[in-house]
Amino acid sequence: MSDNSDFNAWVSGLPKAELHLHIDGSLQAHRLLALAEKNNVKLDYKTTEEVEAAYNFVDLQSFLDLYYLGASVLKDEEDFYHLMMDYLLKCREQNIVHCEIMVEPQTYFPNGVSFATVMAGFKKAIKEAEQGWGQSVLLILSLLRHLSEQEAIETLTQAEPFRDDFVAIGLASSENGNPPEKFEKLYRVAREQGYLAIAHAGEEGPADYIWSALKKLKVQRIDHGVRCVEDATLLQYLKKENIPLTVCPLSNVCLCVFDSMTEHNILELLEEGVKVTVNSDDPSYFRGFLNENYMALHEALNLTKPQALVLAKNSFEASFLTADQKAQYLQKLDVYSRG
Ligand code: ADE
Ligand code: ZN
Repeated sequence: MSDNSDFNAWVSGLPKAELHLHIDGSLQAHRLLALAEKNNVKLDYKTTEEVEAAYNFVDLQSFLDLYYLGASVLKDEEDFYHLMMDYLLKCREQNIVHCEIMVEPQTYFPNGVSFATVMAGFKKAIKEAEQGWGQSVLLILSLLRHLSEQEAIETLTQAEPFRDDFVAIGLASSENGNPPEKFEKLYRVAREQGYLAIAHAGEEGPADYIWSALKKLKVQRIDHGVRCVEDATLLQYLKKENIPLTVCPLSNVCLCVFDSMTEHNILELLEEGVKVTVNSDDPSYFRGFLNENYMALHEALNLTKPQALVLAKNSFEASFLTADQKAQYLQKLDVYSRG
């Protein structure tokens, strides 16, 4: 076997967690077209090839425009069930034994879809996967930063009937011009209600946004955060406080955060001692689920098995599982590493 196929087989079997996944970003082209047809949503694309040809982005905003268009095909409970189930089946296939999934109800509200419809479909799929093959799933209520703080707070209020379904809140969408401090009150209210907190920061935005996510929003981990290298004091702080970064290599290359995978800084951060994890972000749009992200690092940066083991270990340690649950997964990882 060539080195790549050996590594591929090994990474495929590696038990791992995915902590940075937008469920709408897992909407596959064939499902998007089928739902558009079913729900009479007119799109410019007729074939999966035409949809995939549009996965050609110059920055975050050019991606988000297509991402929100894609999500507009989702209308009823069954659609949300399929979206979630398609991703959970991928988890089973890729040995993603635990996942923390971002749900963004504000995306669907303008299309007349209620929070209750979304949650009914998602929860049905999650229950089947938990009972079917022991899939572990936590949900994160992700708010959209291009909208107002007031709208985010209203969404948090609408989430009250589903309080037990979400472990944390998050912050996504257009980063530049929408700094973390815009949402200080939202995070305070959510904290008072017992939510944990994460936020996208330092993807396109500056290292200062990572500081304000940490200091003003008091987040437990940072989504992306790769621009932390621009501030040596911040880098030291992330190490000292053991703050996890949920890094998304294929996403960063597709959205031109790095010119190519060989330029990506994840392994430098890893060697520096920052708690980095590998994630897919929006796998359907960035042409790769979690295993493909590990493989891309292997091919471009020579990611080794010991390094991949640390990344997988970090994925469990940085999760919002209980200490006991983490210990069980780390034990499985240990057994796997001994071959
Ligand atoms: N929403 C979906 N993917 C995103 C990303 N990479 N950055 C910010 N918001 C997002
Ligand atoms: Zn993201």
